[in-house]
Amino acid sequence: MTRLLVFGGNSLVGSHFLRTTRHPITAAGRTRPDGTSVTDFAEIDLEDPSAIRTLVARSDAEVLVNFTAATKVDLVEKERPSGPPSPEGPAYRINAALPEALAQATRAAKRYLISFSTSFVFDGLRGPYSEASRPSRFSDRVSWYGWTKGVGERLVRTADPTAVIVRIAYPYGSPYGEKPDFARRIADAFRDGTSPPYFDDQQITPTWIPDISRAIERLIDLRPTGVLHIASPNATSPFEFARGVVTEIGGDPSALRAGSMAEFLRREGATPRPRRGGLLCTKARVAGLKLTTWKDGIHEYLQSGGLA
Ligand SMILES: NC(=O)c1ccc[n+]([C@@H]2O[C@H](COP(=O)([O-])OP(=O)(O)OC[C@H]3O[C@@H](n4cnc5c(N)ncnc54)[C@H](OP(=O)(O)O)[C@@H]3O)[C@@H](O)[C@H]2O)c1
Repeated sequence: MTRLLVFGGNSLVGSHFLRTTRHPITAAGRTRPDGTSVTDFAEIDLEDPSAIRTLVARSDAEVLVNFTAATKVDLVEKERPSGPPSPEGPAYRINAALPEALAQATRAAKRYLISFSTSFVFDGLRGPYSEASRPSRFSDRVSWYGWTKGVGERLVRTADPTAVIVRIAYPYGSPYGEKPDFARRIADAFRDGTSPPYFDDQQITPTWIPDISRAIERLIDLRPTGVLHIASPNATSPFEFARGVVTEIGGDPSALRAGSMAEFLRREGATPRPRRGGLLCTKARVAGLKLTTWKDGIHEYLQSGGLA
């Protein structure tokens, strides 16, 4: 057993891990993770780097896992500075400054940091991207969310080269937490008769959330450094994925409409998102992790009662 200090335990991804791991956990953040067996909670202002450093220095946790992020892509886009990118705003503080403070603290205290990131660090012109691919160097080609996460990655790597950065994409497959995942949003909208058009000209590799929880267990054992991708081994489009979800729940996929991301991105004020995106997961295979294809994932999600 390894003692863990977990940030963002209420998140979509973190809430699954907290319910499946057997390691003893101290959760930290502004909200106590509910519905879990975690009893040890440190209330802390995550926008205060010195409070983070003090907490980590005093903690006896060997491994830190950070799920915290400002993830509402269109909302975060409103924080984009009008001039050149600058280190300011709540999203920057959570997506870049917090991971840096954690990495400085783990480096100083000789702990292992698992830090989460996203396929949105890439501009999506030439995906899928390998672990060796570099995040976009041009802030105007990615969302402000993707930019701040990319800065966070760079700051973590500089502050603590022993840390691992785990990139994921369009996570789905957790019945826990308040935020519906990618597959559940599709199923809910279909049942409500409010399905939007789904892009058929976008390439994505959705991540099965139970794969993430399994990967974290492996990372705690192996402690690799650098970047690791966890995603479906085969790519799809949101339209094809939505058709798969609707078929699984017994609906008629021909009721779904296709949309064009190319057209969407040309609209005035559209938030940039990767069109030809996706993640290649070379290191996961090397680490002995078997990743779930998106088709198997939605099938398993239904079988486990998660899409009911
Ligand atoms: N969801 C996606 O589509 C997606 C895709 C790719 C990568 N990722 C990455 O995966 C990781 C987990 O994402 P997620 O979607 O599971 O996250 P999420 O459900 O949006 O949850 C975000 C977490 O961050 C915490 N948080 C945000 N701002 C905070 C602040 N100012 N102070 C304290 N806590 C704050 C929230 O705490 P409260 O509970 O207190 O609000 C919550 O626990 C992130 O690194 C994200 O970038 C997500």
